[in-house]
Amino acid sequence: MNRIAPKISQEELNTQLDYSEKIKALYDNMLDHKPRAYIDTYGCQQNFADSEFIMGMLTDMGIEITTDENEADIAIFNTCAIREHAEMRVLGNIGKLKQTKKEKSHLVIAVCGCMAQQEHMKEKILKSYPYVNLLFGTHALYKFPELLYKQLKSHKRVFDTSGDEIGMIFEGVHIKRDRDIRANLPIMYGCNNFCTYCIVPYVRGRERSRDKEDIIRSFKEILDAGYKEITLLGQNVNSYGSDKGYSYDFADLLDEIATIGEQSGKEHIIRFMTSHPKDATEKLFQVMAKHDNIAKQLHLPFQSGSDRILEAMNRRYTKEHYLGLIEMAKKYMPDISFSSDIIVGFPGEVKEDFLETMDVLENVKFDQLFTFIYSRRVGTKAALMPDVITAAEKQEMFEYLLKRQQEIGLERNMAEIGKTFRVLVDGESMDEKYDLSTKMEGGRLVKINGSKDLIGKFINVKVTKASPHALFGEIVE
Ligand code: 5AD
Ligand code: SF4
Repeated sequence: MNRIAPKISQEELNTQLDYSEKIKALYDNMLDHKPRAYIDTYGCQQNFADSEFIMGMLTDMGIEITTDENEADIAIFNTCAIREHAEMRVLGNIGKLKQTKKEKSHLVIAVCGCMAQQEHMKEKILKSYPYVNLLFGTHALYKFPELLYKQLKSHKRVFDTSGDEIGMIFEGVHIKRDRDIRANLPIMYGCNNFCTYCIVPYVRGRERSRDKEDIIRSFKEILDAGYKEITLLGQNVNSYGSDKGYSYDFADLLDEIATIGEQSGKEHIIRFMTSHPKDATEKLFQVMAKHDNIAKQLHLPFQSGSDRILEAMNRRYTKEHYLGLIEMAKKYMPDISFSSDIIVGFPGEVKEDFLETMDVLENVKFDQLFTFIYSRRVGTKAALMPDVITAAEKQEMFEYLLKRQQEIGLERNMAEIGKTFRVLVDGESMDEKYDLSTKMEGGRLVKINGSKDLIGKFINVKVTKASPHALFGEIVE
């Protein structure tokens, strides 16, 4: 348990690059066009970061990325196991390819990520999805070239869920980022917390931090490449370094990164997620307050407002501690925005517990909430705990919470009308009435009209209108 996770060795990286060359040669003989891969990614930012590794490896193999699954020679599903709903969605989408596979026999269907790491899911896919050719778990990700080569060469099904719970540190695997404004920067992998509802520690292994030198090098590369919004990623960034016995902690890392960012003279904003309330510190808030290039935004999941439920969840903090952290953060950053994750219907939860959750909502007034109905996960402790309320009662509580958050969101957004904010223009708007989508420092969406040339720039906008989930504004010169 005290073993420090190893980095992927240079020898292993070279082996995988050799397989990439072999794949190039195989496809050259097999196809009359450049091979194309389609990647469907589910779940959290970590999974999206993993897909960027996959795209990097595909590029090494001479394979193009396509967003049209119909023209794909390889279809990759990078899956999530956090809730049953996520798994059902993936299985449904894999099922849709059954017919395509009949018509295009050379199509490789690959399933990877958290769902694939679970033994019972591997069995299910082996048995019920015979047209899936390749399956590999989170630990075997770096071996993708080797596994794909073996599949292409043998035409047999290749399944690899190897790797122990300590896991590996992904250093040296090529990355191809699929966006040009926002970049993910993983600082650690895995989780040690074993919240009793959560499958993550089982499918992603123990907490392992990247070396600070590697992170800083990646950060500089990202800045040099012109990215404007950089998000430091980890399941629990606040415990950064503890697996290595570092006395240098996450606040130190953030401080150092933000200082390098400031000295670069390049305009950018730094975010981080996720923070666990048991590990968030005053020092972290001081660092956040000290640097203008760190967004005054904190994603701090509280999951439940009931101390009884928090204990059953193994969260290791109380409602009082959580609210104390919020107050402390506000003391250093009066305009800070908060977002959170909440689970409704955890086993044993009753109305009184739910009301405690609602009390936190009323107290903090979050900008954004990610709300979930509890989903039983095979292998977790909570899966064995009995329910005392019905699914309908859970649904009712859930809808009440959503409705109240809508009202709070609207209230908070309406209060911004007439004010001017600095925003990052991060793309075209999905809303046909507006040209551009922009993001405030706190993370809120502001839709505006303006030229596409502004994409990737920081500009000032004045808020003119508000809805529960978005603000609308105009450019201020
Ligand atoms: N059921 C419902 N929600 C869950 N989450 C994690 N596991 C479960 C589960 N079994 C939620 C938590 C976590 C977020 C990423 O997903 O709120 O913070
Ligand atoms: Fe899951 Fe808890 Fe770890 Fe978050 S901190 S990934 S909820 S076990």
